[in-house]
Amino acid sequence: MSYQYDTVIYNVRIASMQDSEVPYGELLSHAIALKDGKIAALIPSDDSLGEIVKQAKSVIDATTLIPQNEGGTLKHPWLLPGFIDCHTHLVYGGNRAEEFEMRLQGASYVDIAQRGGGIKGTVEKTRCADERTLLNTAIKRAKRLCEEGVTTIEVKSGYGLDLDTEVRMLRVAKSLEQHLPVSIKTTYLGAHALPNEFAEDADGYIDFVCEKALPYIASQNLADAVDVFCETIGFSTSQTERVFSCAQEHGLPLKAHVEQLSDSKGAVLAAKYGALSVDHIEYLADSDIPHLAQSGTVAVLLPGAFYYLSEVQKPPIDALRAHNVPMALATDFNPGSSPLASILTAMNMGCVLFQLTPEEALRGATAHAASALGLHDRGVIEAGKLADLTLWDIETPAELAYCINGHRPAAVFKEGKQVQGR
Ligand code: NIG
Ligand code: FE
Repeated sequence: MSYQYDTVIYNVRIASMQDSEVPYGELLSHAIALKDGKIAALIPSDDSLGEIVKQAKSVIDATTLIPQNEGGTLKHPWLLPGFIDCHTHLVYGGNRAEEFEMRLQGASYVDIAQRGGGIKGTVEKTRCADERTLLNTAIKRAKRLCEEGVTTIEVKSGYGLDLDTEVRMLRVAKSLEQHLPVSIKTTYLGAHALPNEFAEDADGYIDFVCEKALPYIASQNLADAVDVFCETIGFSTSQTERVFSCAQEHGLPLKAHVEQLSDSKGAVLAAKYGALSVDHIEYLADSDIPHLAQSGTVAVLLPGAFYYLSEVQKPPIDALRAHNVPMALATDFNPGSSPLASILTAMNMGCVLFQLTPEEALRGATAHAASALGLHDRGVIEAGKLADLTLWDIETPAELAYCINGHRPAAVFKEGKQVQGR
């Protein structure tokens, strides 16, 4: 017998995260039908459910997925889109625990970078790490995110800087899909730091990025986007612009680390090039925000790095809100400025440190995170989108941002298949 649906999940409250008048895009539907890895239908009332259930190969009463609730007596659990961590650097060799100790004794992130530590320290360790070691450590890190209901992760290169290691990082990142129930989007971040072999020759390194590395990476389809660290300790706006225009020639969308430590005017440049996102943006000037609004660029907030570097300058949240610039939220999982393996903690930090509402935090890790990656097939619960879903034993969606290490999903579905839960 052929079925119209693969799975119907019922007895749920749906936080669709669609842009709507109701908080969290809550839908009155209490059931959802999945087919071929996608959301096929949202079922509005009890009346039609009996019929729909007959057309499904498998039927799941969501209340039975909640521990201690075998009788199905609790209120219906909440169904949310799978989380999207749209900014990570989780493939790297070694760690930077020693630098953490140095920082606790007064050295700043910038001091350490200028002394050859920081990103360059990780570059040395990543160049020495073989593919197997890089993969095993990356699996461990990505697994932490998946355990919290993350179903899509963006991973940047940028700790190799030479072509071999950058390619190895991007391959390792993509291969995480074979080990975990997650989609990986890769970003080439060649312009992350100046490698020693180009010391005193940043322009020469940008020549290498634009003439050799980027064309090769694009030709092998190793990256979904290109990123630049535009900063006093990174690359200038004119160097950034060269990378942007080269990426565009190769048809790759742009992202940028900007205004993290200073107002270098990277965001305006990124907006001019129609970048998908500008990330960090603590030092973004209010007067530059209309440029982002106009180009439809997403502002990616990274409260983990803000917290970890004891930053005091907050991103201009009120002005971003006033201009309706979509705000995404991510872990920035990396060994130096944000060793944060938790999207839920990033949401809590977004609320406590940046005064986001829990709804903004959740939207930031779902719908707006999808936009920051240029993905239109996920991030909200809607017919036609991927069936990347998480189920939670909570009374309100706000609880996910309110608690610190308080929740794990009762179930996770990746493209229609249940990959976590009983
Ligand atoms: O997003 N800002 C530049 N890159 C990373 C930090 C990388 C590192 O310190 O290793 C970031 O904060
Ligand atoms: Fe980053």
